[in-house]
Amino acid sequence: MARVTVIGTGYVGLIQGVCLADVGHDVICVDTDVEKIAMLRAGRSPIFERGLDDLLAKTIASGRITFATPSEGWSQLYGDIVFVAVGTPQSDNGAADLSFVRAVAASIAQEATHPLTVVMKSTVPPGTGATLCARVFADADVRIDYVSNPEFLREGHAIQDWYETDRVVIGADATAAAERVAALYSSLGSPVVITDVASAETIKYASNAFLSTKISFINEIANLCDCIGADIDDVARGIGLDKRIGSHFLNAGIGYGGSCFPKDTRALDFIATLNGYDFDLLKSVIDVNNRQRLLPVIHLAKAFPDLHRRKVAVLGLSFKPHTDDVRESPALDIVPLLLQEGARVACYDPIAGNVELGAAVRVDTVWEALDGASAAVLTTEWQEFRDLDWSRARALMTDEPIVFDGRNALDREALVSAGFRYMAVGRPGEHRG
Ligand code: UDX
Repeated sequence: MARVTVIGTGYVGLIQGVCLADVGHDVICVDTDVEKIAMLRAGRSPIFERGLDDLLAKTIASGRITFATPSEGWSQLYGDIVFVAVGTPQSDNGAADLSFVRAVAASIAQEATHPLTVVMKSTVPPGTGATLCARVFADADVRIDYVSNPEFLREGHAIQDWYETDRVVIGADATAAAERVAALYSSLGSPVVITDVASAETIKYASNAFLSTKISFINEIANLCDCIGADIDDVARGIGLDKRIGSHFLNAGIGYGGSCFPKDTRALDFIATLNGYDFDLLKSVIDVNNRQRLLPVIHLAKAFPDLHRRKVAVLGLSFKPHTDDVRESPALDIVPLLLQEGARVACYDPIAGNVELGAAVRVDTVWEALDGASAAVLTTEWQEFRDLDWSRARALMTDEPIVFDGRNALDREALVSAGFRYMAVGRPGEHRG
């Protein structure tokens, strides 16, 4: 079993560290955030992810995972394989901000006292590995092999995805380094794709761009369904059964959010432009996604010319269910637009993290959000909303209330028979024609 260091205990790093420890490796997770490290040492996860607390407890008890800050001396902290899993946020021009990655790489090159395999887990643009090798790792006193090993974890399913990954992608110039990293995952039995570094980096962006394209494509078809009177549920089922298309990622609605798709599609567009290539399809994917989240506001404004006198409930703040993550969540664009239209806005989400909502209020129960409202916009398809007693909701709301089902997740018939005007994306409803 290998001695592994994971630098960065954010979403990607922590899952990577805990899962590697669980399959038997000795893992040290390192982060500059002293409070986070203290929490982790106490067995508490700083992020909300299904199953993570249990796995953390199990691996801590096994003694195979420890947590440290760099102040404890890098030379003590390096195993033979060092994963870099720090953030690559979006900078103002749409490019990925690599300052954290560069800082970690520089400190590895400076402090390493024995040969290392450095594995990039952070999502970095194609070409980054080559640049780091030429400009940073070449100056180290010891041999450093560089490997790209992108992650494909969905928030809310990250542990399951780690174990049941469709593939492990490993990009390396040295075969021995690729094999060392592949061996870490040998117990998973997943296909391993070994490539050069730039191809592995590209696989990550191409995967996210393709999935985003699938979502924007089905959203365009759903919009067309609204114009021509077809039903997107049937259309998606009908095309998804074709194995060449596949049924996943064909849920139409108000579009994708989260920490990956919006950032990675913009970054890929930026890289393409930088390399002299106009990636028109990707630009359209991004535009369609930006437009899609306007739909609830457009339709409510049309249905209620006096929207400025009405209350609207926004159900869901996280970018999807099973996560408290609100990054790039469609709800965060919808709320200010509703406020701009003059509506009073009450938001409810069962677990989403703290978020700036301007003049909108955040309430503790779905019933408070719905009380006195003329419309409810479903922005996140939490089970609580699918299972809601909509007759009770109806009784709390004003006459002829609208439900805008931004995730096509609710039972249209049930809502209509409870007395709602139902609107969705590409489904039969009031807003068509
Ligand atoms: C994604 C990728 O799936 C994962 O492989 C990558 O490593 C990180 O980015 P994540 O952001 O956690 O994972 O969420 P995902 O479940 O992929 O959903 C992303 C967004 O797309 C959500 O806002 C979701 O609501 C939306 N979505 C997804 C749709 O609108 N329709 C769909 O059919 C699927």
